[in-house]
Amino acid sequence: MRALGFWLLPLLVVSGVAGAADFVGPESCKGCHPAAYTAWQQSKHARAADSLTESQKKDARCLSCHAPDQAQQNVASVTCETCHGGGQYYSPGYVMKDPELSRLVGLVDPSEKMCRTCHDASSPSLRPFNFVESLKAIDHWSAERAKKSTRAEAPSPPPAKK
Ligand code: HEC
Ligand code: HEC
Ligand code: HEC
Ligand code: HEC
Repeated sequence: MRALGFWLLPLLVVSGVAGAADFVGPESCKGCHPAAYTAWQQSKHARAADSLTESQKKDARCLSCHAPDQAQQNVASVTCETCHGGGQYYSPGYVMKDPELSRLVGLVDPSEKMCRTCHDASSPSLRPFNFVESLKAIDHWSAERAKKSTRAEAPSPPPAKK
C-alpha cells in the first residue's frame, strides 16, 4: 500500500492537487462505508436542500449552507465531502487504507470550526450550537469503528456490497 502511495504522490503534487479535488458523490462512499452512509442518509444534512422551496434553491444565500457544493460539484445538500473534503484522490481503497496519504490528498478531519461555518448565529436554531451534543446527533462513525476492530485480523478490503 505504502509503495503504491509513494509512486502516486509525486504525480499528485505535480498536478497541484491540494485542496482542489473533485467530488465523487456520497454513493461512491457507500460501498465501503455502508454504516456511515445509512446514518448520514437519515440525518438532516442529507436532506438539507429539500428544506428549501424551488425559488430558495436558486438563492445563493440559502445554498451556502443547505447545498454548498451544488454549483461547483453538482452534489446537493450537506454531503460526506462537504465535511470530509472532495474524494477524487483519497477514495481509492489503497489510498484510504493509508491515513497519512489520504489526508495528504484531500481527506479532512472535520473540526468544530468547520461546523460553525454553517451553525452560526445566522442559522435559525433556537439554541446556540453545542459541538459535543451535535456530534452525538450525527454519529455515523461508532458502527464503522466497531467494524474496524473486528476487521483488524482480516487485512482484505471490505466487500463492495453489504
Ligand atoms: C474502496 C473503498 C473505500 C471508498 C470508496 C471510500 N473509503 Fe473511506 N475508508 C476506506 C478504508 C479501507 C478506510 C480505512 C479505515 C478502515 O479500515 O475503516 C477508510 C477510512 C476513511 C475515513 C477515516 C480515516 C481515518 O484515518 O480516520 C474516513 C473519514 C473516510 N474513509 C471517508 C470516506 C469518504 C467521505 C468517502 C467517499 C468520498 C470514502 N471514505 C470512500 C475505504 C473506502
Ligand atoms: C455546509 C454547512 C454545514 C456544515 C459544515 C455542518 N452543518 Fe449541520 N446542518 C446544516 C444545515 C443546513 C442543517 C439543517 C438541515 C435541514 O433541516 O434543512 C444542519 C443540521 C444539523 C443537525 C440537525 C439539527 C436538528 O435540528 O436536528 C445537527 C445535529 C448538525 N447539523 C450537526 C453538525 C455538526 C456536528 C457539524 C460539524 C461536524 C455540522 N453540522 C456541519 C449545515 C451544516
Ligand atoms: C449560515 C448557514 C445557513 C444559511 C445561510 C441558511 N440556513 Fe437554513 N438552516 C441552517 C441550519 C444550521 C439549520 C438547522 C438549525 C438547527 O435546527 O439547528 C437550518 C434550518 C433551516 C430550516 C428548517 C429545516 C427543518 O428541518 O426544520 C429551513 C426551512 C431553512 N433552514 C431555510 C433556509 C432558507 C430559506 C435560507 C435562505 C434564505 C437559509 N435557510 C439559509 C443554516 C443556514
Ligand atoms: C456534517 C459533517 C459530516 C458529514 C456530512 C459526514 N461526516 Fe463523516 N465524520 C464527521 C466527523 C465530525 C467525524 C469524526 C467524529 C469524531 O472523531 O468523533 C466523522 C467520522 C467519519 C468516519 C470515521 C472515521 C474514523 O475515525 O473511524 C467515517 C468512515 C466517515 N465519517 C465517513 C463519512 C461518510 C461516508 C459520509 C457520507 C455518507 C460522512 N462521513 C458524512 C463529519 C461528517
